[in-house]
Amino acid sequence: MPAAKDFKSIPRHVAIIMDGNGRWARERGLPRTEGHRAGAETVRRVTEACTEIGVEFLTLYAFSSENWKRPAREVAALMKLLEQFLRQKTPEMIEQNIRLQAIGRLNDLPKSCQDQLHRSIEATSQNSGLTLILALSYGGREEILDGVKSLLESIERGHLDKGMIDTEVFSKHLYTRYYPDPDLLIRTSGELRLSNFLLWQLSYTELWITPTLWPDFGRETFLEAVREYGRRQRRFGGL
Ligand code: FPP
Repeated sequence: MPAAKDFKSIPRHVAIIMDGNGRWARERGLPRTEGHRAGAETVRRVTEACTEIGVEFLTLYAFSSENWKRPAREVAALMKLLEQFLRQKTPEMIEQNIRLQAIGRLNDLPKSCQDQLHRSIEATSQNSGLTLILALSYGGREEILDGVKSLLESIERGHLDKGMIDTEVFSKHLYTRYYPDPDLLIRTSGELRLSNFLLWQLSYTELWITPTLWPDFGRETFLEAVREYGRRQRRFGGL
């Protein structure tokens, strides 16, 4: 078991694009939904590893704005899986001191899914360990647009003056206003793109991409990413 001291530095916030469930299933001649089911199990391994080394925030890209374009059958299966995951894992989250949060256009989710999500968020709200943030019906561009609208509303209500708008103020109008920006972004299954994920927040985030498919991702691969992160020099545009 590695101790936190074995790592040069621990990212405070890790964000993950969980990709490759479909390919994992295809390689095994299974339906895509089996890949998503296996992917949901990976989530537990990764939250355990985060808790083990002291990561404070973990954001998972579970369903993007673009994912609504998938065949209705797959969308329905994903929503069912999400609801099931939340229902089954909430006692585990409580036991592991995990606080659940969600970002995205949550009102787009089926009603029963929204209800379960809010129950799970409420049931874990007093926990003080890892904050697990699920990005659901989430798109980075959509989030920025929602932020602009929220900013305009504040101005209209007289709570904010146009001259006061800076990056800090704008950040407070995003879904992520309560969380620090991610320090490390992991993407599985080898694709080299951001796919509309946390576009504003990833400005200075370290990127780590692995060919491993999400269902095969686990503690060791996660720790490898964190080790590599510790070797990077972050300059935030300075020297
Ligand atoms: C990408 O694989 C994965 C998704 C679109 C959904 C992610 C969902 C899970 C990991 C399971 C549910 C998660 C939770 C938190 C319950 P893909 O289908 O794009 O794979 P492919 O690129 O190989 O086709």
